[in-house]
Amino acid sequence: MEEIAFFDAKPYDIESFDKLNKDYKINYYEDKLTPRTARLAAGCAAVCAFVNDTVDREVIDLLTGMGVKAIVMRCAGYNNVDVRYAERTMAVLRVPAYSPYAVAEHAMALLLMLNRKIHKAYLRTRDFNFSIVNLTGFDLHGKTAGVIGTGKIGQAFIDICLGFGMRVIAYDPYPNEKLAEEKGYRYGDRTAVFSESDIISLHCPLTSDTKYIINHESLRLMKKDCIVINTSRGKLIDSDELLKALREKRIGGAGLDVYEEESDIFYEDCSADIITDDTLSLLVSMPNVIITSHQAYLTKEALNNIAEVTLSNLDEFFGKGADPKGKYTNSVLL
Ligand code: NAI
Repeated sequence: MEEIAFFDAKPYDIESFDKLNKDYKINYYEDKLTPRTARLAAGCAAVCAFVNDTVDREVIDLLTGMGVKAIVMRCAGYNNVDVRYAERTMAVLRVPAYSPYAVAEHAMALLLMLNRKIHKAYLRTRDFNFSIVNLTGFDLHGKTAGVIGTGKIGQAFIDICLGFGMRVIAYDPYPNEKLAEEKGYRYGDRTAVFSESDIISLHCPLTSDTKYIINHESLRLMKKDCIVINTSRGKLIDSDELLKALREKRIGGAGLDVYEEESDIFYEDCSADIITDDTLSLLVSMPNVIITSHQAYLTKEALNNIAEVTLSNLDEFFGKGADPKGKYTNSVLL
């Protein structure tokens, strides 16, 4: 039975994997994968990693030296993996999709919460403060949603926005004009999306082209009340520029499920620590910013799909038969 080193394991991961796993000895580690912790994979045939694990050249060399043959990412994004380098010595697999609805619904939840100030209302009524002063939002109906990246999650988010009676303008270097016509949204260039939208939601991957796509210039183009939602990757936003725009009241608010310096903080209980990241502290303190801890994917359905596809990726790699349900295409990254 092959041994798998499973990094950054949380109780909900262990539950969903143990429910489905019969064929592997999975060693769960709470630690994230780093050069310091990589040695925990000694004797393992594969490593299972997640969004904030480090899979750089140093880690890949260490894993290769220990005879690890595959890295199975239990997530869709893989910007934290040096794929080209890894593929010289091992296979890299991921879960291309596990629930686009989970992420798109969380993006809308952040938007609704910010716009209608539910976070404030919740705290007030728990203290029997039933005042609604300063809780005014705006109708989403008839407003324009700007969607950057119209893949699986972007499409699910567009559907939700259209259901709310919003207009949608999207940017994607590979636009699906036919689908846009069928659904009733339109594509524009980045400038049009930034300047015409009442809310902007990011659903593109983190690449050299998209790093800091929300920056000084794009923030300058936005409407004064524009709400920015990021459920994709933290480095899509230059956080210091976002903070400046919020302080100068140049935009309306931000809903962030990801943050560019999240890797040592998100998924951990830091409530007893002094947070030394001043940008994060200031963002957290703002009434028009909501931060969640990279949890947009966290639904029962997504966790089940992640476990199912990751285990079938392992099966495929170790020659134990292909994905029986053909539900998703397992992919060795290229
Ligand atoms: P996808 O691959 O289906 O779609 C990505 C879309 O972005 C594609 O249509 C692609 O053409 C487009 N794109 C590529 N370069 C672009 C650019 N320069 N500007 C604008 N669009 C560009 O991916 P999917 O499944 O929709 O996921 C999107 C992202 O969501 C992932 O890359 C990942 O970073 C993030 N994600 C976040 C999760 C969370 O829990 N917060 C969970 C899952 C994914």
